[in-house]
Amino acid sequence: MRVTIFGATGLLGKALVAEWNGDEIIGLGSNDADIRDPEQVRRALENARPDWIVLAAAYTNVDGCESNRELAFAVNCQGAVNVAQSARQVGARLLFLSTDYVFDGTKTSPYETGDPRAPRSVYGHSKAEAEVQLLRILPECCIVRTSWLFGVGGKCFPDTILKLAASRPELEVVNDQRGSPTYARDLANAIIQLCRKNAEGIVHVTDGGDCTWFEFAREIIAIAGLSTSVRPTSSDKFVRPAERPKYSVLSARSLNALGIEMAPWQDALRRYMEERKYHGA
Ligand SMILES: NC(=O)c1ccc[n+]([C@@H]2O[C@H](COP(=O)([O-])OP(=O)(O)OC[C@H]3O[C@@H](n4cnc5c(N)ncnc54)[C@H](OP(=O)(O)O)[C@@H]3O)[C@@H](O)[C@H]2O)c1
Repeated sequence: MRVTIFGATGLLGKALVAEWNGDEIIGLGSNDADIRDPEQVRRALENARPDWIVLAAAYTNVDGCESNRELAFAVNCQGAVNVAQSARQVGARLLFLSTDYVFDGTKTSPYETGDPRAPRSVYGHSKAEAEVQLLRILPECCIVRTSWLFGVGGKCFPDTILKLAASRPELEVVNDQRGSPTYARDLANAIIQLCRKNAEGIVHVTDGGDCTWFEFAREIIAIAGLSTSVRPTSSDKFVRPAERPKYSVLSARSLNALGIEMAPWQDALRRYMEERKYHGA
C-alpha cells in the first residue's frame, strides 16, 4: 500500500511515520506542500499516487484560532477540501483527523458518532465544517475524531505538567472538563488498522477511560514519583479565548465495531513516560 501523510512533522504525524511499517510511506510537512494551495496538493498527490491519504495537517492552536478565524478555516476547512478534491482526482482513499471539539460538551454520557455537531470554538467550527464538506466530496472517506493527544513529538499536557512540577511545589489544574487522553502512538496504530480495514465514515478513536485535567495531572505526578501537590480548580479561574467542552468523552462503539480496542489511558501514560525518559527528557 502507498500512503501519503499530510502533517507528518506534527505530534501525530511523527508517531504515524514511526509506527507505520510494511507499507510505502511519504510524509509531508507544510514546507513540502501547503494544503491551502490546491496546486501544491495536486502536485504532491500526482507524484506520490497513494492508495491512502492521512490528513493530520491542521492549524491546531485552539486559542489562536479565535483571533485568526480566516487562517483556521483556510487550513482546517479549505485545506481539507483541497486534499479531498485531489484525492478524488487521483483515486485515493482519505482519512481525515477531526476532534471532540465539534461537540458542545453538554452531554453527560459518551458522544456517539451520529450525535449532532455543535462546536463552541472557531477551531471546532472549522473542523465541523470540514467534516460536512469532506463527506459531500468523498462520501466514502474516513473521519477519525480524537481528543487530548499526547506524545513525544511535540508540546503536550503531560510534558507541560512535568516541566511545571520541576520548579513548583504546587499546581492548580482544572477539574471541570472531562475527556479521554490519547497517546499519539496508540492513535497512530489505530489509524494504520483503519486504513488496512478500508474503514469508511466517522470513527471515534481515543484511549480507554476518561478523566478531568486535574485527574490526568495527578496521575502524571504519581507515575513520575514527584512530591508536587496537585490541587483541583475550576475553568473560570483560567479563562482562555476558546471555550472548551465541559464533557467530550467519545464513545468507543464505532471503533470496537471494526474490531479495534484501545488501551486504558493510564497504561498509555506509563508507556509515554518511558518513551519520554528514553528520549532524555
Ligand atoms: N493535539 C490534540 O490534542 C488533538 C485533539 C483532537 C484532534 N486533533 C487533530 O489531530 C491532527 C494532528 O494533530 P497534532 O497535534 O499532531 O498537530 P500538530 O502537532 O500541531 O501538527 C500540525 C501539523 O500540520 C501541519 N500544517 C499546519 N499548517 C499546514 C498547512 N497550511 N499546510 C500543510 N501542513 C500544515 C504542520 O506542518 P509544519 O510543522 O511542517 O508546519 C504539522 O505537521 C490535527 O488534525 C488535529 O486537529 C489533535
